[in-house]
Amino acid sequence: MEEKISQIQKEYLEEIQKAQSLKELDGIFLELFGKNGVVNKLSEEFPKVPKEERPKIGPLFNQIKSGLEKEIEDKREKIREAGYQKLDEEKLDFSKSTQIKPRKGRLHPVTKLEKEIVNLFTKLGFSQFSAPHIDSEEYNFELLNIPKGHPARDLWDTLYIDTHNLKATPGELLLRTHTSNAQVWIMRELKPPVRMMIIDRCFRYENLDARHEHTLDQFEIVYIDKGVSMANLQYLSEYFFKGILGADIKARLRPKYYPFVEPGAGVDGLCIFCKGKGCKVCGGMGWLELAGAGMIHPKVLENGGIDPSVYSGIAWGVGPERMAMLKYGVEDIRLFKSGDLKLYESI
Ligand code: PHE
Repeated sequence: MEEKISQIQKEYLEEIQKAQSLKELDGIFLELFGKNGVVNKLSEEFPKVPKEERPKIGPLFNQIKSGLEKEIEDKREKIREAGYQKLDEEKLDFSKSTQIKPRKGRLHPVTKLEKEIVNLFTKLGFSQFSAPHIDSEEYNFELLNIPKGHPARDLWDTLYIDTHNLKATPGELLLRTHTSNAQVWIMRELKPPVRMMIIDRCFRYENLDARHEHTLDQFEIVYIDKGVSMANLQYLSEYFFKGILGADIKARLRPKYYPFVEPGAGVDGLCIFCKGKGCKVCGGMGWLELAGAGMIHPKVLENGGIDPSVYSGIAWGVGPERMAMLKYGVEDIRLFKSGDLKLYESI
């Protein structure tokens, strides 16, 4: 019996040593310690062992049994470690992926242009102001000299907010149609001299086409001080066009009606495509209408609590998206909100 036990030990130690995988070891374990395994079978033979041998065989059996168990466990550990090492060696080399150039993020072309505009006017001492997107008819129209029923309201196709379920007079709230709603907010909040700029979103009930969007940006300047005149308007217009479109772009003021300025002006820039010669884009005129402006109407100054006999002011407004179309040669304003990366990357 003693010999048989030693023989089993020798045989299985060899097998354990030879084993290459955890699966093989599992097999050996079952062969040894399974229900019908070698060890169980051996113990079944115990009753046959002569009495005087038993005190020797019992401990020997136990020692060999736990010895083999330990061998299997140790070998398992070895195989696992070798596996990890192999995994380590097979590690992916991510340094190679640097050969693929990552695509760079960039600012939206309109945002880029707006940053340029803000920088340009910050240099002249203008600060940014924000007024409500959802505003009252009062600030968007009435205080700007456009009373209810005035035909000039038709200049702005307006989105009204249905206030039936609110505690407000129906029709009182609207999505501001222009940044000019900020004019009286500014005057009521600040004392002259005032140099403010608004660059922000406006909304219109538009028929959408290549030049019209329902949601658009506007840039507007409100400059109020003693002795502000049309000469400042001319200067600021030229400063803007030269700063944004190029050194050789002149500005020209043309009479134009806006109820909240007097005199009012349409501000034309020399056509950037033909430089005044006349082309398809400017319809042969040599000039493009780019901005609206004028001397702030005395009544509007009064509405803002400013004495028009002491102070005068100018308001000047432009659409950054229209400017971006010109500057970057984009033919359809709707492309700017299309998420078309090809367009963004080409600019
Ligand atoms: N608010 C005018 C518009 O939306 C533009 C403008 C601004 C005109 C400032 C005059 C002065 O058309």
